[in-house]
Amino acid sequence: MQVIKDISTLREAVRELPRPVGFVPTMGYLHEGHLSLARAARQACASVVVSIFVNPSQFGPNEDFSRYPRDLERDQRFLSEVPVDIIWTPDNLTMYPEDYQTWISVEKVAAPLEGKMRPGHFRGVATIVAKLFNCVQPDRVYFGQKDAQQVRVIQQMIRDLNFPLDMIVCPTARESDGLAMSSRNVYLNAEERKAAPVLYRALQNARRRFDEGERNADILRKQIETEIQTEPLASIQYVSIADADTLEELRVIKKDALISLAVFFGKTRLIDNIRLEIAPRK
Ligand code: PAJ
Repeated sequence: MQVIKDISTLREAVRELPRPVGFVPTMGYLHEGHLSLARAARQACASVVVSIFVNPSQFGPNEDFSRYPRDLERDQRFLSEVPVDIIWTPDNLTMYPEDYQTWISVEKVAAPLEGKMRPGHFRGVATIVAKLFNCVQPDRVYFGQKDAQQVRVIQQMIRDLNFPLDMIVCPTARESDGLAMSSRNVYLNAEERKAAPVLYRALQNARRRFDEGERNADILRKQIETEIQTEPLASIQYVSIADADTLEELRVIKKDALISLAVFFGKTRLIDNIRLEIAPRK
């Protein structure tokens, strides 16, 4: 396993790797969710590259860039168990040299939800992911359903900019009580951590009601909000039921849909989602 910092060494090392090359971009402080992507790449590809870079341009001015958790030693230990071939850990000046000027903005699918709450976030994500793709030049890239809108934005960018690669989306890894794994879960205090599984419970109960035939999105949205509000530590930012493709809000669910939400527990903002699939008519 090689740990590489600069781009020219990375390019040379990747050139030596057997293809197909699978690539997992991350911001580090790895958990089972990240590792499940690396393992999926390990299974399906001859070689695996993982990048670790806390990308400043996707954080807003009042967000947690400077206190985002970092522990490269621990990350290396976890990745050596997968194992992966290359860990790429560029620094800020490598990715954004002085006088950096080029940005990628995906339009419609990046506008609502996280895009609305975190202006500039997806511009930062799309730009760094395009740069990472250009440096690694992988055959397959692995992303988590945990960040459903990010998946949709990157999918659109891959299509629009003709990146010659396949995207594989892996399911959300969860703690045993249902809380979606996230590097940010370490911010939760004991009380907040105990309260946080309400999110997945509310999503699952909505899915149950959908499976029983409820197609009115307003009713399902309201049900989720009411359930989350039973938890006094939770403060809802949004609960959305949107078209899974366009991410436009729905009133009636006639096509595959995405239920997604962002909820604060104290200062910590958690996101989660599930997909609702409409069974094809027989
Ligand atoms: P990060 O939050 O570190 O996540 C890296 C990848 O792991 C993403 O594809 C994310 O969706 C996936 N992931 C996170 N938690 C997961 C979970 N519980 N189950 C399954 N997959 C999970 O997402 C980013 O970094 C950045 O935006 C990045 C794409 C690296 C660009 O900077």
